[in-house]
Amino acid sequence: MPTFKVTLLPSGHRYFASPKQSLLQAGLESGFNLPYGCEGGNCGECLARLEYGEIQSLRHSDFVLSESQKNKGYFLTCCHTAFSDCQLELHEIHGVNEIPQQNIEARVYKLENLAHDVMSISLKTPRTQPLRFLAGQHITVALNKDLRSKRSIASCPCDGLKPEIHVKLRKQDAFSQYVFKHLKRNDRILIQGPMGEFILDDDSQRRLIFIAYDTGFAGIKSLLEHAIALEKEQSISLYWIVTPHSTPYLENYCRSIEDALDNVTFYPLSIKEASEKCFESVLKKIFKQEDQGDEVDGYIILPESFRSLTLALINRYGLDGQRWRLDGYQIL
Ligand code: FES
Repeated sequence: MPTFKVTLLPSGHRYFASPKQSLLQAGLESGFNLPYGCEGGNCGECLARLEYGEIQSLRHSDFVLSESQKNKGYFLTCCHTAFSDCQLELHEIHGVNEIPQQNIEARVYKLENLAHDVMSISLKTPRTQPLRFLAGQHITVALNKDLRSKRSIASCPCDGLKPEIHVKLRKQDAFSQYVFKHLKRNDRILIQGPMGEFILDDDSQRRLIFIAYDTGFAGIKSLLEHAIALEKEQSISLYWIVTPHSTPYLENYCRSIEDALDNVTFYPLSIKEASEKCFESVLKKIFKQEDQGDEVDGYIILPESFRSLTLALINRYGLDGQRWRLDGYQIL
């Protein structure tokens, strides 16, 4: 099957689309933050203007374009596919402020034990209400009015219909207790969000360092998948620090990425105890190992209680604080 080169204006971003995919879906899968709402031809938010090339209708749309819009070449990217190389003019999403706050009644699509104490929950949103978010953001998930929790989204923004979260079983965390004991496929979960500014700098060419502490891997996974979709060529170091009695529960997934991509190196690291002191010692080793005299973008997801220590270390090692982003989570 032929694929066609699609160029976005004014950014100059490029991706390939097959005639079976909508121009929107192909762009999202290539890691670009294209505007959209329903993915079903109803809202008009995916409007773009065809500057050059041929497109074909893929599905019916209820959204009505004016004659003037049609004459100027406007069309809906979710309802059309490429029929030749083409150039599209559209507004790409550049920051979290351009993503609307959403309330979505989703269902549990799949539950998977990633470890004895870590559950992956894949959610399914209604077909016309995909969750729009940027890689690295959080959502609040509510099982009922008393059981709610803020979680990093673990999946790539290219599939807003099936966002994924990871839940670690903890004694003091009623949400996690419920998930492990009672949650089942098809149960209703209310999603609110997205929140947070811990997102990838899409246009940076700097070397990438991702550091996850324990289930902080969820948000790092989303960033990693986004960086891979964007076909980033710079080297990527992926560190996963695990506490005693834990494992890097997606180690095979990380290894398969490392095997498939020459620019990704995976370092699973264990610490003797879940203390600030042990975390500090392993972080020092990472900073020393990565000190190659070049500029990097660092992303760390860690327990909130380790934030000050990490900021102080970044300072002490003379790293550019502006290029190191931290995201903290609470341990109950
Ligand atoms: S995303 Fe709603 S019409 Fe295309």
